[in-house]
Amino acid sequence: MIDADRIGRSFRIRGATVHAVRDLSFHVAAGEFVGCLGPNGAGKSTTIKMLTGILAPTSGRVTVAGLDPTRRRTAVAREIGVVFGQRTTLWWDLPLRDSFELVRLLYKVDRVRFRERLGELTERLRLGEFLATPVRQLSLGQRMRGDIAAALLHDPSLLVLDEPTIGLDVVSKAEVRAFLRDLNTERGTTVLLTTHDVGDVERLCRRVILIDHGRLAFDGTVDELRATVPGETSIEDVVAHLYLNSSALRTRPPRPGEDSPTATA
Ligand SMILES: Nc1ncnc2c1ncn2[C@@H]1O[C@H](COP(=O)(O)OP(=O)(O)OP(=O)(O)O)[C@@H](O)[C@H]1O
Ligand SMILES: [Mg+2]
Repeated sequence: MIDADRIGRSFRIRGATVHAVRDLSFHVAAGEFVGCLGPNGAGKSTTIKMLTGILAPTSGRVTVAGLDPTRRRTAVAREIGVVFGQRTTLWWDLPLRDSFELVRLLYKVDRVRFRERLGELTERLRLGEFLATPVRQLSLGQRMRGDIAAALLHDPSLLVLDEPTIGLDVVSKAEVRAFLRDLNTERGTTVLLTTHDVGDVERLCRRVILIDHGRLAFDGTVDELRATVPGETSIEDVVAHLYLNSSALRTRPPRPGEDSPTATA
């Protein structure tokens, strides 16, 4: 579903070059639920932007559903739903329902299928009470549910979420998590989720990748991640330890007999 082969992205800022992502390779198969962790500024959002065709890689090659996201942006858009938790893709002044109608027109979703899918999403994400409310009047939790629905109206095979649980209360967070889990298990939608909430990863993801300083620092299961820091059992403490010692994680050669994949780039 996703094939990233040594992708990199740098930016020129006032004469200096920032390497946001470097030499990053990973593969996500159809049906997987993959979590993406990494400290602030690690390159997670930049990676997502390269997968979705918003940014072109400056090196390497990425394909999504076999397509190059930058060259085949429209075709790739049909395969992907994207949610940026930090900003809405909905129309601020329009009622949520009208935003959905615009999404339908943009993605050329057939009216009958749209009505059916909107009905399901309205029920599962409890959107009914505020479908007529302008997006700017929605609470953060309501808006996030609206954004998730908008990303799924065209029934993509891959859903990419960049911090979808940011700012949500414990109940809303649990609802969003349950929804995503069902989407993956019942509908078979592949999910790539970026988050700073390790609870999301612990509860949802069979596999986790960790990006640090633009490089892949870990790729494995949550249990394997936990095992990278002997003595720590809480995944939160493990992740904190890895972030604090991130350069050691990147450069440390494997120890004899070590089998946990603290893969280094
Ligand atoms: N458009 C841009 N122009 C210049 N630099 C950028 C741009 N986008 C990202 N960067 C830089 O690239 C690096 C990675 O940023 P990115 O947003 O990918 O990090 P992130 O892992 O998503 O962080 P966070 O957890 O804080 O969201 C940062 O140093 C950032 O300043
Ligand atoms: Mg980010």
